Amino acid sequence: MLEKIKETAEYILSKTGAKPEFGIVLGSGLGGLVKEIEVEHALEYTSIPNFPVSTVKGHGGKLIFGKLGGKNVIALQGRFHYYEGYSMQEVTFPIRVMIALGVKRLILSNASGGMNPAYQIGDVVIINDHINLLPSNPLIGRNYDELGPRFPDMSVPYDPAMIKLAKSIADKAGVRSHIGVYAAVSGPCFETPAEYRYIRTIGADLVGMSTVPEVIVGRHANIPCFAISIVTDLGGFEEAQSVSHEEVLKVATAAESKMTSIIKELLHSL
Ligand code: HPA
Repeated sequence: MLEKIKETAEYILSKTGAKPEFGIVLGSGLGGLVKEIEVEHALEYTSIPNFPVSTVKGHGGKLIFGKLGGKNVIALQGRFHYYEGYSMQEVTFPIRVMIALGVKRLILSNASGGMNPAYQIGDVVIINDHINLLPSNPLIGRNYDELGPRFPDMSVPYDPAMIKLAKSIADKAGVRSHIGVYAAVSGPCFETPAEYRYIRTIGADLVGMSTVPEVIVGRHANIPCFAISIVTDLGGFEEAQSVSHEEVLKVATAAESKMTSIIKELLHSL
């Protein structure tokens, strides 16, 4: 794995010469943030050695380098999900590469189902903790001490200073936002009514199919992580509501500008 990470990072460096400080991962329907980046380089995933290839609609499949909020960023336009059949190591490989390229902080976005009764469709939620309900963990297997410790501390999974800053940015901008706990499931089914209730009962406000493996790898490398979610559907309430990927993409895309302005301002303030 170390060789692959090195090979990929060296290839990217040779093509771009980029020295990104922030790594950004754009979730379902949220790839439009790229329009705000002053793009210096863009690499198709298919051209990058050892990179998995994205298979889901709404995921662009490009690695973007440039400036956002005055900072050097590298953005994954389209992430890899466990439900696509990738191993956890494949899902998180781009994060390892970002870190090898010198990224100092991670900013992740996703679309999620909201179970907190205070939440509405289209709300922004700043994630402050997570529950890993995925059937695996990207750190299972041999540990490479060069990448991080065998038993990483997860007491501060999401950076408190970035959470505070983002919340005040959202409040000032008049964007409806919350701070909440995200549970990661494998998907690809959306949850049954009982599953939503179960996930709510164990302490989550949101449920989705991503982000947690990436944060685990980020924290393994002691990188501060920040994650922001758009509530695209609601679950676990009296009346079961149907969910579709089309609806998730539609709501995420409609709410994208709120999330984009928060991330941009956050980068600007850091
Ligand atoms: N469940 C799981 N993943 C999701 C959901 C959901 O309700 N909405 C968007 N991603």
